[in-house]
Amino acid sequence: MKQNHIFYGGDYNPEQWPEEVWQEDMQLMKKAGVNFVSINIFSWSSIEKDEGKYDFSKLDKIMNLLAENQIGVDLATATASPPPWVARRYPETLPVSKEGEKYLPGSRQHYCPNSEDYKRLASKLVEKIAKRYAHHPALVMWHVNNEYGCHINECYCDNCRNQFRKWLKEKYKTIDVLNKAWSTDFWSQRYYDWEEINLPGKTPTYANPNQQVDYKRFMNDSILNLYKLEHDIIKKYSKDIPVTTNLMGLHKPINGFMWSKDMDIVSWDAYPDPYRKYPLDTFLAHDLTRSLKKKPFLLMEQAPSAVNWRAQNSVKKPNQMRLWSYEAIAHGADGVMFFQWRASQGGAEKFHSGMVPHSGDENSRTFKEIVQLGNELLKLTDIIGSNYASQVAILFDWENWWALELDSKPSDQVKYVEEILTYYEILYKLNIGVDFVSPNENLEKYKIIFAPASYQVSELFSRKVKEYVANGGLFVTNYFSGIVDQDERIYLSGYPGAYKDVLGIYIEEFAPMEKGKEHQIITNTGEIYANSIWEEKIHLKSARSLAYFNEGYLKGSPAITVNQYYQGTALYIGTKPQKEYLEQIIHYILKLRNVQTSLEVPEDVEITKRYDENNEFYFILNHSNDEKIIKLDDEYINLLTGKKVINQLILLGLDVAILKKI
Ligand code: GAL
Repeated sequence: MKQNHIFYGGDYNPEQWPEEVWQEDMQLMKKAGVNFVSINIFSWSSIEKDEGKYDFSKLDKIMNLLAENQIGVDLATATASPPPWVARRYPETLPVSKEGEKYLPGSRQHYCPNSEDYKRLASKLVEKIAKRYAHHPALVMWHVNNEYGCHINECYCDNCRNQFRKWLKEKYKTIDVLNKAWSTDFWSQRYYDWEEINLPGKTPTYANPNQQVDYKRFMNDSILNLYKLEHDIIKKYSKDIPVTTNLMGLHKPINGFMWSKDMDIVSWDAYPDPYRKYPLDTFLAHDLTRSLKKKPFLLMEQAPSAVNWRAQNSVKKPNQMRLWSYEAIAHGADGVMFFQWRASQGGAEKFHSGMVPHSGDENSRTFKEIVQLGNELLKLTDIIGSNYASQVAILFDWENWWALELDSKPSDQVKYVEEILTYYEILYKLNIGVDFVSPNENLEKYKIIFAPASYQVSELFSRKVKEYVANGGLFVTNYFSGIVDQDERIYLSGYPGAYKDVLGIYIEEFAPMEKGKEHQIITNTGEIYANSIWEEKIHLKSARSLAYFNEGYLKGSPAITVNQYYQGTALYIGTKPQKEYLEQIIHYILKLRNVQTSLEVPEDVEITKRYDENNEFYFILNHSNDEKIIKLDDEYINLLTGKKVINQLILLGLDVAILKKI
């Protein structure tokens, strides 16, 4: 796909409006620099009024109108919300909750991921749409469904139970293999027939852990199959047009690395809370989304201002929407889109902001900011397709996330995203570009790999880490990592089985801490810091200790260790140290591997770098309300102002600069 501009626009729902409004929309879109809109996301009930009775006249008109106005279309397949007649004719398409209740139509996403009727009806619709519009001049991208698994990512209907059995049979082949993988000799759970197996629904107490993880794998696969079904139909008619679906960043049920294999462009929907100055989980998710393919991504949806679905919905303050839009671009987005173009008059989302507010006022603050941003982005053609600069990576593993956060663990305080955020935040504040890697990827290109809360580790990945470190890599992991294999079975002969060679330690026992409690650790050089969440009894094999626990029966026993393993180094952090100390440790290892930020910038100013064969682009974002001065080492051109910048850059509060080296 040849992309001429940074994509700019949003979800466009003209079916909610009389046709006179469409003309006005075209005028306003031009004014705002809109070049791309997502349409047809929730149009199934207006296209197919009853089974097989299709009416494309409205969609034809909309497609033609957009083509006439040179606005590209991200055409959705409309399968995200089946019309009420589907539920009436085929009640089995409705998903069932864990408690056994059917979800009813009247909102959206009310389909069971394994329903054959839903699949048949959705396929027919997609076939019609793909065939009809494959060569339409407005078509730029395909948008399959919408936010898969957003509301319904589990279903407990009888059909899902049958499909789960089938899925298990394919995975394990024989019931004995399943029994072993599920450790069913525990609590007399041994199965003799596939028909005895249920979904991990309501049980008197803890359901079998690997049954639970397999169910999550099964549900992810079931939903992914829906995506693939539509994807394959589209590709029959439309080979060269990219296909995407809007993911949701840190969305636990959907394994992004797996999904991205069948996506030409990865896109996601970001809804940071405007009350927050640093919604770091959103910023992290930009990096995660880009990392799924290690290519530029598309910010498919963000709110122009407030959403309607939090308890209190903050507006985006002046310049906040602009700053956060550039945040996405600075982390690798080649498009910034919104939900939605025009704020709805009715329906559940009528209090959600739109690019055009209810008043239609072109002088409203939101619309003026939309116009300003859209016109600025037109100048940024140079950066399209450029790479993101990162020398370090954080391991991200959805399956580990599922396994780690099951019930019945030493501590419920070890939460995957929180652990990752602890490390990400420090790197972010130091302006160190980060990629995320899946366990299936090559680690060699990164100087440092961080693997927080890496609880479930396959033998394959354990070997990969050994090789990486042996060849000179630096590997950092922390408590409750390297504990179980992919069947949730503990690596015996001492924790952390999967990583103990490389770390040069042996952990005798875990000593998780009471919620809210703090202890002390003491470093080699006698400094004292607080620690929380977790402690444990670590024995040194070949490692040496950098810090010790300093209270209770663990006093004097190692807390943080470092090990030389052949050419490389492995660091182990057996507790959650006070932030200042973790910052020091990370600072030290970055120095050890000569990982530096591109430019020194003052506090609250962020800098990232994108590059291509010929250029380097520096994105400088001022997250504070105060003016900041940034010292420069060279001559640059600010792509947003077109002006040369020498020696220093002055950035107003919440302002942004994109500097290209001259
Ligand atoms: C997204 C969804 C949109 C809209 C938006 C509101 O999750 O894809 O259709 O509902 O949220 O914030």
